[in-house]
Amino acid sequence: MDPASLLAWHIAMGADEAIDIDPIDRFTTEVQAPVIARQHPQAQKPAPPSGPRPVAAKPVQAVVGAGPEAAGRVAAEASTLEELKAAMEAFDGGLLKRSAKNTVFADGTPGAPIMVIGEAPGADEDREGKPFVGMSGQLLDKILGAAGFSRTENVYITNMVPWRPLGNATPDGATIAMCMPFVKRHIELAKPKVILMVGGVSAKALLGTEEGITRLRGRWKELDIGGQKIAALPVYHPAYLLRQPALKGHAWRDILSVKRKLSLS
Ligand code: URA
Repeated sequence: MDPASLLAWHIAMGADEAIDIDPIDRFTTEVQAPVIARQHPQAQKPAPPSGPRPVAAKPVQAVVGAGPEAAGRVAAEASTLEELKAAMEAFDGGLLKRSAKNTVFADGTPGAPIMVIGEAPGADEDREGKPFVGMSGQLLDKILGAAGFSRTENVYITNMVPWRPLGNATPDGATIAMCMPFVKRHIELAKPKVILMVGGVSAKALLGTEEGITRLRGRWKELDIGGQKIAALPVYHPAYLLRQPALKGHAWRDILSVKRKLSLS
């Protein structure tokens, strides 16, 4: 395989950062002989190990972590956004969480009338600990800005999943199920007037439907979150719009629809 393809493969698999300046060949690194307790004098000294060091298998740890029930209990105990953030940072999110650098909680203005809910952090968001700061985040800001909305004034942004999935994989059902209690509590505490469900993953999960984003987009729905009815609009994900620029017109139409819903126009 040529080095560029190999590097691209590593990045896609999530190995996107060097952790030391010099490479270490772990197979040829000297291994200390184990300290043997005093034994019978005739006991033979074991030969020093040579070749690759054998590694004892560890029990497989849950991919997902503590699961939806534990997430539900922890989320219910949070009575402020700060408490919810702290609870999520302390939560056992399994391999998903351990492979991420940050718990990406939210950005923007808490208590804002518009709450944007995306899919999951990418590499930029994981590094900075904030949602939508990469290329798609820049497009999202432009779309919001076209209707006079911004993170600093009237938009609050989060994701369905607060931890970057390895290789930017689409979060699976078990991951969404585990994160859902956090998202619902997040909505309850943020108290938005409208929710923008950005992309198919967010829209399908929050609406509990298998319908695709192409059918869902642009049609207002109502979410019932802890007894609160909140108007929610499925919209295309800005990452999709970057690949399909001809569809950007829908995004402008949708954001104007949000403006009308908030009776700002
Ligand atoms: N895509 C998302 O859905 N969320 C982010 O935070 C970044 C990219």
